[in-house]
Amino acid sequence: ALRQSFAPKAQKQNQNFQYQLQPQASYKVTVLGAAGGIGQPLALLVKMSPLVSALHLYDIANVKGVAADLSHCNTPSQVLDFTGASELANSLKGANVVVIPAGVPRKPGMTRDDLFNINANIVKTLVEAVADNCPDAFIHIISNPVNSTVPIAAEVLKQKGVYDPKKLFGVTTLDVVRANTFVAEKKNLKLIDVDVPVVGGHAGITILPLLSKAKPSVSFTDEEVEQLTVRIQNAGTEVVEAKAGAGSATLSMAYAAARFVESSLRALDGDGDVYECAFVQSDLTDLPFFASRVKLGKKGVEALIPSDLQGLTEYEQKALEALKPELKASIEKGIAFVHKQP
Ligand code: NAI
Repeated sequence: ALRQSFAPKAQKQNQNFQYQLQPQASYKVTVLGAAGGIGQPLALLVKMSPLVSALHLYDIANVKGVAADLSHCNTPSQVLDFTGASELANSLKGANVVVIPAGVPRKPGMTRDDLFNINANIVKTLVEAVADNCPDAFIHIISNPVNSTVPIAAEVLKQKGVYDPKKLFGVTTLDVVRANTFVAEKKNLKLIDVDVPVVGGHAGITILPLLSKAKPSVSFTDEEVEQLTVRIQNAGTEVVEAKAGAGSATLSMAYAAARFVESSLRALDGDGDVYECAFVQSDLTDLPFFASRVKLGKKGVEALIPSDLQGLTEYEQKALEALKPELKASIEKGIAFVHKQP
């Protein structure tokens, strides 16, 4: 597990700074937008995975150097670079997992939705190429606004006749990573033990951490719940403001995305005990897409975990109802974008 692999213990025991476990490397991972703020550290973390045999890095510019640099790390995967639209198809052929962090990030004062006009087109174009070249791959969408870019991807895949809802994921792992960190800090818990499911979507109030379902079970005062919930919802903005115009979260996002890639590869590899939160097609609520914990298997989402949404506190129940109209509108905006194209 990535979590275990990054523990200092693993690093001490292995002088080559590889993962503790050494299973057979056999999966191909393609990163679209690999030269960016997220793409570069994400590529580095994926390069460390013992499960990866080929790491394909695609961007519209600056990716040659990133690949040359990474290729010198003595871990199993072969790194190849692909630049520009003419090389996109080749970057995707045979991929098992495609991760998409391509697009523009937020600047101070912007919401994720302000990115829609640019990123919607980028995601549409890239997912069309995924549909044509590796329709069976797991697709991890990082590009914001995730609440709309995932429905865009779904519509594109439907138009191409290759939509498999079990294999399309909006990456919300960073919300879980943040929730785990903030809860551990507040309650003085060992980080490695803390797991907080985060449901809904990936923007503002649509991000709903279910603190009542945190593991280990902890009790919070009403003030703590309010403070932690708002901090988790605004954590992205905390980083955007601290970076003061230089972008949004990249390093923590790369860490979170690498964890989701590793979980997906473990699931593909037959591990029967892999659970992650993700924004997926869902029937847990009346919305067509919803982030929740899912069980991952060889074919993608094996099961949604409905129990997280049962027995919510009054605070969580209200927050769930309050997020639905915004999330619904973002989903519909994504779907409409694809259908109004010529
Ligand atoms: P960045 O600007 O540093 O990197 C984006 C990369 O995408 C650049 O290398 C650029 O050349 C590339 N790119 C642009 N158009 C492309 C195209 N058509 N094909 C391939 N590559 C293309 O941005 P950063 O910081 O890496 O963020 C990327 C995206 O991730 C943004 O949309 C951001 O909002 C989102 N994000 C999502 C998070 C999440 O939790 N899901 C968290 C943080 C950021």
